[in-house]
Amino acid sequence: MMIEATNLTKSFRRGNVETEVLKGVTFSIPHGEFIAIMGPSGSGKSTLLNILGLLDRPDGGTYLLDGTDYSGANDEVRSAARNRKIGFVFQQFHLLDRASAVRNVTLPLLYAEDGGSDGIARAQRALDAVGLSHRWNYLPNESLPMRQQEISIPRAAPKSWIFSGTSSRRAGPSY
Ligand SMILES: Nc1ncnc2c1ncn2[C@@H]1O[C@H](COP(=O)(O)OP(=O)(O)OP(=O)(O)O)[C@@H](O)[C@H]1O
Ligand SMILES: [Mg+2]
Repeated sequence: MMIEATNLTKSFRRGNVETEVLKGVTFSIPHGEFIAIMGPSGSGKSTLLNILGLLDRPDGGTYLLDGTDYSGANDEVRSAARNRKIGFVFQQFHLLDRASAVRNVTLPLLYAEDGGSDGIARAQRALDAVGLSHRWNYLPNESLPMRQQEISIPRAAPKSWIFSGTSSRRAGPSY
């Protein structure tokens, strides 16, 4: 299983008011599956995705990402797992305004174990896969918002885009 959540709970306290947001969430997602999480505003989607993306921890329950429980791991280990296994496509893109499309896409590779030695060529191929190869040197704000989101897709998962067809698989929660 790529994602295996069992009985996840999470509450937030504001003053004396405790809000129980996740009340025992259990589900699993196999490798290669596409899943949409839907629900009204405030129902806890972002709370859940923050946990699945190792940005936050549950109060209770267990969460296995690709078979591993990272709940007791330190920030460094969790960050490395995020870099290798998770791609985020944020609603607000979070692209670097003063860096070209290709620099934005290579950025996560710089933090990867192999250092992204052939990163620029890989990023150009990833941009090509979303039809943006001719715009690799544009700054994000020189593109339309929809195109900016397209830049954020290869940025989220530059390896799996480039190695599509191999066994490389990763989860891609999108906010
Ligand atoms: N850091 C926090 N501190 C206190 N309360 C929080 C925090 N994060 C979320 N909440 C509360 O938890 C509940 C769920 O919020 P969450 O952001 O997960 O909902 P959502 O489903 O993503 O909503 P939206 O569709 O508006 O993005 C809300 O009542 C929210 O106010
Ligand atoms: Mg949300």
